[in-house]
Amino acid sequence: MPLSHHDLLVLLSTSGIFIEETTTKQEAEPRYHLTTASRLLVDDPIGGRTCVSNLLTLCSSPFYFTASQNLAEWLKEEDDGAGATPAARPPFEMAHGAGFYDVVRRDVAFGACFDEAMASDSRFVSEIVIREYGEVFADGVRSVVDVGGHNGTTARAIAKAFPHVRCTVLELPRVVGAMMAAEDDGDGAVEFVAGDMREFIPPADAVLFKCVLHKWSDEDCVQILKRSKEAVSTREPKGKVVITEVVCQKTSNKQILQAQLLMDLCMMVVLEGKERTEETWRKIFLDAGFTRYKITPISGTTRSLIEVFP
Ligand SMILES: C[S@@+](CC[C@H](N)C(=O)[O-])C[C@H]1O[C@@H](n2cnc3c(N)ncnc32)[C@H](O)[C@@H]1O
Repeated sequence: MPLSHHDLLVLLSTSGIFIEETTTKQEAEPRYHLTTASRLLVDDPIGGRTCVSNLLTLCSSPFYFTASQNLAEWLKEEDDGAGATPAARPPFEMAHGAGFYDVVRRDVAFGACFDEAMASDSRFVSEIVIREYGEVFADGVRSVVDVGGHNGTTARAIAKAFPHVRCTVLELPRVVGAMMAAEDDGDGAVEFVAGDMREFIPPADAVLFKCVLHKWSDEDCVQILKRSKEAVSTREPKGKVVITEVVCQKTSNKQILQAQLLMDLCMMVVLEGKERTEETWRKIFLDAGFTRYKITPISGTTRSLIEVFP
């Protein structure tokens, strides 16, 4: 007998994706409801929430799966270097003969999957941040630059929620060029600037990084944050850097901790990146010349809002 519709529903409800409603004897078919987990996989236009299914599609792509199969070989290279010389390439590059962003550019379907994944995550996180922590952008902030802001999803959400804030996205020239070529620069609410964050960051009251710094080494982060410090106002009201990233282990929730550690593993497999603990972040901020920071875990997510002050 092939797998039936019913078998699938039983499997999914046993796995916590659906919950079966207790039915009366008269009802022929059981009824299933969404759970907290599966609500994240469907849009809820009435509740004003968009889903993250595109992000899961990216993470379950064959490109990721094949990369993770090279983990053993990668660990062997790391062991051979006895910690002194790290493996030359991350498992993703070992598997595909090219770096992650090269494959994003080379494979049209994977590139589209990446774009949709990042946009869906940005919609999801910015909805929560604007609703629950909006004061981060409201208090004295008149301009924001979203560094590595991709297609401007986060910047557009900020511009819509705070019309008095001027929003700019700094992106690599090829990303900005592709958006202009596709005439996808939107409604003009956001300005796009082409450049390299290691060299220049446009001046703003708040310099934003979302899902960007975890790809860079500690040394690169210090350099990028020094550029950010030059970009933010040092006159009253002083500017700040706002980072939306994982702060590993700053949670008592076991599921969030597991998800953070899996993200750390994913960054290692895909990009030579890493998620950081508060201790590592603190050192980076101080080395970049900042004096203080404030970490606010974003409720129900793996990420935190980190405000960093000159
Ligand atoms: C993981 S994506 C995050 C995109 C967006 N912040 C989000 O969360 O949806 C990292 C982005 O950084 C951009 N990027 C990488 N290196 C950069 C650089 N040197 N200067 C500016 N942007 C860069 C990439 O093009 C990419 O869009």
